Amino acid sequence: MADSTPVPVIAIDGPSASGKGTVALRVAAELGFHYLDSGALYRAAALAAMKAGANLENDLEVSRITLTLNINFIRDRIKIGNQDVTEAIREESVSNAASQVAAFPKVRAALLTRQRALRQPPGLVADGRDMGSVVFPDAVLKIFLTASPEERAARRHKQLMEKGMDANMTALLQDIQERDTRDSARSVAPLQKCADAVLLDTTGVPVEGVVTQVLALYKRARQAP
Ligand code: DC
Repeated sequence: MADSTPVPVIAIDGPSASGKGTVALRVAAELGFHYLDSGALYRAAALAAMKAGANLENDLEVSRITLTLNINFIRDRIKIGNQDVTEAIREESVSNAASQVAAFPKVRAALLTRQRALRQPPGLVADGRDMGSVVFPDAVLKIFLTASPEERAARRHKQLMEKGMDANMTALLQDIQERDTRDSARSVAPLQKCADAVLLDTTGVPVEGVVTQVLALYKRARQAP
C-alpha cells in the first residue's frame, strides 16, 4: 500500500538576520532533509525584474517576470537560467527591491507552487516569513525565530566584516528596523508568529544551542499523537 503520510516540513519563520538560514541549513543537514531558502526566491525575482528594467512598483509586471523565471538551486549556488546569481541577490539594492516586491500579492502567488514543489521526501526545512502561515500551514513543526534588532545588526556586521566588506553598525540597525516594519506591515502574508508556532528568541544563544532546541522540538512533534 502507498504511504499516505505527508512529507514532513519544518517551517522556520522570522525577521531579517535572525539566524533562520544558518539554523535551517544545519537542521536540514542533521535530518538529511531538503532545504528551501524562500527569501532567495524573492531576491531572484527582484533581481530579474531589475535587470529587465521592470517597474518595481507594478505587481503585474514583476509577477509576469517571476512566473517565467527559471530558478535553480544547485547545492549552495543559485542560478537564473545559466547565470549564477548567488552573490548578486545578496546586494543591498536587491535586498531592498526584494522587500518591495514581496509585498505584491501576484508576485507571492507566482512563487507559491514553486515553493510547494520542493516538498520532497524525506522532508523539508523551509525558511522565510510565511512558511508556517501560508506556504506549509500543515508543517509538523513551526518555529518563529527572532533576536533583538541590536543583536541581529551585530551578527550582520560580523558576517560582512568576515567577507571583507565595509559595514556601519548604525546604518545596519536602521536598515534592519526599516525592513522589519515593511515585512510586518504589508497586508499580504505579513511577517508574524502563527498561533501554533514556537517562539525562539536567540538573543545571546549560540547557533548550536538553537539547532539542538529545534531538533528536540521536532522529535517531540513527531511523537505527538
Ligand atoms: O530572508 P531574506 O532576507 O533573504 O528575504 C528577502 C526578502 O524577501 C525580505 O524582505 C522578506 C521577503 N520574504 C518574504 O516576504 N517571504 C518569504 N517567505 C521570504 C522572504
